[in-house]
Amino acid sequence: MEAVDRPSGANAIAAIAAPNAVPRPATARAAATLARAFWDDPVVGYIRPEEGGRLRWLQVVFGVMVRFCQLYGRAEEARDFGGVALWVAPEHGHTTVWHYLRANGVALGLHSPPAVLRRGVRFLAASEAWHRRCVQEPHWYLPFIGVDPALQGNGLGTRLMRSVLDEADRTGLACYLEAPSERTRRFYERHAFRVVEAWTVGRDGPRLWSMVRLPRRRPDATAEGRSR
Ligand SMILES: CC(C)(COP(=O)(O)OP(=O)(O)OC[C@H]1O[C@@H](n2cnc3c(N)ncnc32)[C@H](O)[C@@H]1OP(=O)(O)O)[C@@H](O)C(=O)NCCC(=O)NCCS
Repeated sequence: MEAVDRPSGANAIAAIAAPNAVPRPATARAAATLARAFWDDPVVGYIRPEEGGRLRWLQVVFGVMVRFCQLYGRAEEARDFGGVALWVAPEHGHTTVWHYLRANGVALGLHSPPAVLRRGVRFLAASEAWHRRCVQEPHWYLPFIGVDPALQGNGLGTRLMRSVLDEADRTGLACYLEAPSERTRRFYERHAFRVVEAWTVGRDGPRLWSMVRLPRRRPDATAEGRSR
């Protein structure tokens, strides 16, 4: 297997069991992990600044997102739901309202106060526009990866991410994501993602970094050096 990007933790990361697919009955469990991981995320703070009830609301949001990725990509967990990664598959590159409806997206409307819904839609529209602009080729999209706060910094996020990154390398596919902070941006840079655009939601919203990762081993060997 290919060396990970943080050599110092390579053994610890290799010792973590491979991620498992999240089965449908475990959707709420995966959503709970993501809700805890994203409780103080800058985008979450922008969309829903009120802290009261935020965890319950996040649980609804991630319930939809886990279902979404079960349908259109991969929802994977590692270490007994200590961490969860959600991926949208290359064949579903850009999503529409229909995709969200099939994933019970109507729950977002039912559980979000109007102002929260307005900011959420503004964020999603900006995110989708930058996504379309930054990557046109078929790619894996990582909308969310979260590790329980009590377990962060132990290699779980790296292990979770690596299963699809390895597959993308084997099949010669790019990956895309949006980093919501400088710290996560550096985390993704260690996994060979590169910033292609930095943008802000509205006039006073959070800053995000659109990042693309080219496959390490492309079918066309001449492109390999570009991903390093
Ligand atoms: C980002 C995250 C998935 C990484 O998983 P992890 O298991 O903690 O990461 P690893 O142990 O494999 O690697 C450690 C690196 O993760 C990053 N990291 C760790 N905790 C973090 C946190 N609370 N917020 C952001 N990045 C974090 C750092 O880059 C860290 O390296 P550093 O200590 O040298 O700064 C995890 O920390 C997390 O869930 N953060 C909150 C949610 C989030 O920001 N998700 C990513 C945006 S979609």
